[in-house]
Amino acid sequence: MIHSATPAGSPRRYGGVAILLHWLIALLVAAAFTLGLTMVDIPGLTPTKLKYFSWHKWLGVTVLALACLRLLWRITHGAPPYDAGMPAWQAKAAHALHGLLYLLLFAVPMSGYFYSLAAGVPVVYLGVLPLPVLIGPDQELKPILKQLHYALTMILAAGVAGHVLAALKHQFIDRDGVLRRMLP
Ligand code: HEM
Repeated sequence: MIHSATPAGSPRRYGGVAILLHWLIALLVAAAFTLGLTMVDIPGLTPTKLKYFSWHKWLGVTVLALACLRLLWRITHGAPPYDAGMPAWQAKAAHALHGLLYLLLFAVPMSGYFYSLAAGVPVVYLGVLPLPVLIGPDQELKPILKQLHYALTMILAAGVAGHVLAALKHQFIDRDGVLRRMLP
């Protein structure tokens, strides 16, 4: 994740694949987040609730798969360098937040996945593809993983909020074209 990995003089924008992955993942994370909060508020164990749980898990597993692809792409293709005028602290802060967001794109779905396994519910992707059962049902681990999934999700939500606010500040206050780097 080195910004200087991109040779000087190359375009200061992300490529098509990076942009597609960025917005696709953003959409899926927002959907999984909203559905997660909605489904846990449904009382009892209704068919609708179970359906939402499945959809939530499929969305999350898709995010995990796309996050793997995205990290590989990022490592092999680098990121366009920032404008020389950007203060060093801002570049460092952006870099740190992007690193945290990458980490959480893995940690949030993985904690949900292991929580589901500990609760004794293996995940069948899209209802057709059984995914690896890496741990068996575990009554002690179950509440810990549930808490962890919730806590990591809230850290992700805070991180995304900071990320969006920074992008809006660049767009409407600094007017320095940073947001354009990630627009199609
Ligand atoms: C980007 C990925 C994900 C996001 C943003 C996300 C977000 C959330 C949120 C906001 C909740 C509600 C927490 C609460 O209020 O208690 C939740 C619950 C849950 N998530 Fe996820 N999740 C993701 C991925 C996954 C994955 C991959 C799985 C499993 C394969 C999963 C399984 C669950 C389960 C079983 C619950 C219900 C917890 C309970 O029993 O109350 N999640 N998730």
